[in-house]
Amino acid sequence: MRILTGIQPSGKLHWGNYFGAMKSMFDLQAKGEEMFMFIANFHAMTTVRDGKALREATRELALDYLACGLDHEKSVMYRQSDVPEVQELAWYLSCLTPMGLLERCHSYKDKMAHGFEATHGLFAYPVLMAADILIMNADLVPVGKDQKQHLEVTRDLAQKFNNAYGEIFKLPDAYIPESVSTIPGTDGQKMSKSYHNTIELFDVSVKKKVMGIVTDSQPMEAKKEPNGNSIYELYKLFATPDEVAAMADAFRAGGYGYGTAKKELLAAYHRLFDPFKARRDELAKDTDSLEDILQAGAKRARAAAAPIMDKVRHAVGL
Ligand code: ADP
Ligand code: TRP
Repeated sequence: MRILTGIQPSGKLHWGNYFGAMKSMFDLQAKGEEMFMFIANFHAMTTVRDGKALREATRELALDYLACGLDHEKSVMYRQSDVPEVQELAWYLSCLTPMGLLERCHSYKDKMAHGFEATHGLFAYPVLMAADILIMNADLVPVGKDQKQHLEVTRDLAQKFNNAYGEIFKLPDAYIPESVSTIPGTDGQKMSKSYHNTIELFDVSVKKKVMGIVTDSQPMEAKKEPNGNSIYELYKLFATPDEVAAMADAFRAGGYGYGTAKKELLAAYHRLFDPFKARRDELAKDTDSLEDILQAGAKRARAAAAPIMDKVRHAVGL
């Protein structure tokens, strides 16, 4: 089974991204699934208008994935822009895409509601996403709930293409693991860069942000219910079951303050992430080898796309 996912380089990765998306991907990789992971830099251009910033964010994202567990020999990691055939396929799909289908997309309407300029790129975003997926013959696409509709568009376009030109594309399925919980941010609502409540994976601000997690004002002596408390919910992500049970008992017994709990959370974060950080620092020192990794990934991705594109070009009459 081929699993494909794309991530936009449009900001630093946070704990919600790691526990909500990256970790399940590394688990699938460990199970021996065939993974394709690409950095959606074409998609990011719909919102990022600074070339230097985009280049930098692309590199940072690659470093984060490699540091946290992406094995570039087992899995195929590439930049979207290194597979230009994706743009070609997007055009063929565009010619079959009803305007109404795109007009109904929530993400476009949402962007408009947030004051983004109505560009053709934003409007056509789902067509490019369909091309990313179909060109690699993916079976399964792990995405967040907000991307479910884009997967429906992808299936729709694949079906339209197959109806017009013959059975070429597989219809991919979205993979939205229900087991993944919503990770709370420093203010208790869903951690998201749009809410400015994130704690980044690798950043000098981690300590400050952990110590700044919003809590209620119960005194230290008070017996507290741990469930629903953001510190405890975040601690569960990092700690062993015994450690989690110990924190729950301490909260319930009273005499255990939020400050101490935050320090335990921070220590648990460091235990998991310090080795990742060390690996990241090593990788970051050697720009050439990072570029080599991305180029090697692009070569494998283009090889995977080539037979499909041959069929597509022939079918459309080229
Ligand atoms: P953001 O909300 O910060 O913009 P994205 O939408 O770019 O994050 O999310 C990228 C991936 O990370 C998606 O698969 C999404 O489901 C996952 N993710 C992001 N935030 C969370 C969270 N708070 N809890 C669980 N998963 C999350
Ligand atoms: N739209 C996705 C997001 O914002 C990123 C993306 C682009 C993607 N192309 C993709 C995800 C193809 C999966 C498959 O999260």
